[in-house]
Amino acid sequence: MIILCANEKGGVGKTTTAINLGVAYALAGLEVCLVDTDIQGSATAWQRERSAASITPRITVCNMNGRMGQDLIAMANKFDLVIVDAGGRDAIEIRQSALVCDLWLIPMAASHVEMWALKTALELCQSIEEQIGKAPRATVLINKVHPLPTIQDSNELADAINSDELLSKYLPVCPARLCERLSYVRSLGAGQSVIEYEPNGKARAEIESLVAYISAEFAA
Ligand SMILES: Nc1ncnc2c1ncn2[C@@H]1O[C@H](COP(=O)(O)OP(=O)(O)O)[C@@H](O)[C@H]1O
Ligand SMILES: [Mg+2]
Repeated sequence: MIILCANEKGGVGKTTTAINLGVAYALAGLEVCLVDTDIQGSATAWQRERSAASITPRITVCNMNGRMGQDLIAMANKFDLVIVDAGGRDAIEIRQSALVCDLWLIPMAASHVEMWALKTALELCQSIEEQIGKAPRATVLINKVHPLPTIQDSNELADAINSDELLSKYLPVCPARLCERLSYVRSLGAGQSVIEYEPNGKARAEIESLVAYISAEFAA
């Protein structure tokens, strides 16, 4: 299975999501490979920290660029799960990955301004549908949600996306969401996931609900 984490916006949580999903699945016993296409190499740097601290399970990280579709398919034959962590400007890499992925997660910050940046993802889905007759299965993952339940911005954002005809068709909102939490920041710096960093924390429950959603989608 191939999961793509991509959004042309930077700082929305692509790397954070890719790493936390990867570790969650590795802890469940899957052989996981993270494919880092971003020249910033955040996932690669995280893995270096993880190896230096001898943290298990070990996560393989490799770098790919350009016309990488066939390489991704080959990687998916070797690993149980391949997660692509794309950089914002990696247009070729995003298109190549979107063509072959099983699921495209589009992390976005819980702000209305970010919604306008979904246009590029929407156009890519439509263009792929024209090319191969099938749009990639994509879902918007709302991240950095304010943890106070009285602050409803993320619900308003989800309603705005889900009430838009095209966005709801091609990029429906994922029922799992991630809140803004320090553990997402600190865990990565330590070469860990939030599951390892704070085993009883709320971020762990959020990542597990994302895993549950993905697993249920693919069990069906
Ligand atoms: N849910 C979250 N809560 C708090 N900080 C977050 C969260 N998600 C991401 N961050 C922080 O936001 C910054 C950008 O996240 P990152 O995953 O690197 O984004 P991207 O890969 O999309 O550029 C990082 O400092 C990261 O630690
Ligand atoms: Mg990144």
